[in-house]
This record gives sequence, C-alpha cells and structure tokens, in this order.
Amino acid sequence: MQNLHIRQERSADRSPVLALVERAFRNEAFSDQREHLLVERLRDTAAFVPELSLVAEKEERIVGYILLTKIDIQGRDRNHPSLALAPVAVHPDFRGRGVGTALIREAHRRAYAIGFGSVVLLGHAAYYPRFGYRPAHHFGIELPFDVPAENAMVVELRPGSLKGVSGRVRYAPAFTE
Ligand SMILES: CC(C)(COP(=O)(O)OP(=O)(O)OC[C@H]1O[C@@H](n2cnc3c(N)ncnc32)[C@H](O)[C@@H]1OP(=O)(O)O)[C@@H](O)C(=O)NCCC(=O)NCCS
Repeated sequence: MQNLHIRQERSADRSPVLALVERAFRNEAFSDQREHLLVERLRDTAAFVPELSLVAEKEERIVGYILLTKIDIQGRDRNHPSLALAPVAVHPDFRGRGVGTALIREAHRRAYAIGFGSVVLLGHAAYYPRFGYRPAHHFGIELPFDVPAENAMVVELRPGSLKGVSGRVRYAPAFTE
C-alpha cells in the first residue's frame, strides 16, 4: 500500500490504538472481543517492550497495530527469552492490502535488531506460515492454552536460534487475567 508508514507507537496513539484493536476484532468469531483490553493490561507490565509496539499509519490515520511482548520458554534446565505476537490488527477497511504483512515483517526486523531470536503466537494456521512460522510442536514448544496444535506457532528470526530450546511457554499474567 502506498504511503504506509510503520513506526513505534507514541503516547498520543494510545486511544486510537485501543479503538483500532477493538474494531479489528469486533466481528471475528474466534475472538473474545477483549484483545484491546489485553493491550492495555500489557502496557503496564515488565513484558512490554516499547520498541515492539508498532502502528501502521496511512495519511496520519492509524490503520494497523502489532504488539510483541516478552515471554519465557521454560526448558528443563533453563529459561529461554522469547516474544509473543499478540495482537496484530488491521482496520477492516484496509485489509488485504499488505498492512498486516508490513507490520509483521517490521516487528520481526526490530525484534531481531534488539536481540530476540524467536516469536511465538496463537493464530490462523493459514496466515502465518508465509512469515516463516511453523507449528510449535515441531520445536518441542508447548503453549499453556487448550488450542488446536496447528494454531500454536513459532518462528526463528535467525535460523537455528531455537536449537536446543524446548519447553512450555510462560506468558505474562496479563494474558490470562
Ligand atoms: C489477520 C489480519 C491482521 C491480516 O491483515 P491484512 O492487512 O489483511 O493482511 P495482508 O494484506 O498483509 O495479507 C492478506 C493475506 O492474508 C490472508 N489472510 C488474512 N486473514 C487471514 C486468515 N484469518 N486466515 C488465513 N489467511 C488470512 C488473506 O487471504 C491474504 O492472502 P493473499 O495474500 O494470499 O491474498 C487482519 O485480517 C485482521 O486484523 N484480522 C482481525 C484480527 C485478527 O484476526 N488478527 C490476527 C489474530 S491471530
């Protein structure tokens, strides 16, 4: 999409982002319609990484949002820091034009640049493989949610970054509140 700008969220974006996320999930059958509240809760936690809270802006209107927050993959001997992607949201009027793709790619790029090697998510099995996501069980990684295995996915931001890493994901408590 022309004139699409991905940038870090600023404090003035907080309320438009909240509205955008609420709107994006409003008619989604799989959703509990509370994703915008999750974003609000995560902001006040140690899991929040300001550099990984990104908006997609077109002509000064926020049309998309993505958030990656810190999680741990709890292995037998040690914990491995990783990120959870939740949520990614695009306004219904702007879908199918690459906004979601641009947000995910830029979030991956920035996450890698600040030292993260992987991202975990719960999402549409048909959407995320194009960004390199594979089923979490492929890596021996387990999510603490009762969901179909195909919806639990993981990407290595650098090939091999999850070598020797397996275990159960521990999310920030804000995820389950
Ligand atoms: C999912 C979402 C972020 C995609 O954003 P988008 O800007 O429309 O995505 P893009 O334009 O980059 O990509 C469009 C492609 O994704 C596919 N796609 C979009 N949603 C999909 C889904 N739920 N399942 C499978 N494929 C999907 C489209 O069919 C299209 O495929 P094509 O490139 O082969 O034509 C957006 O639809 C959205 O906000 N949905 C509601 C919230 C949501 O579901 N978030 C994800 C939670 S897991």
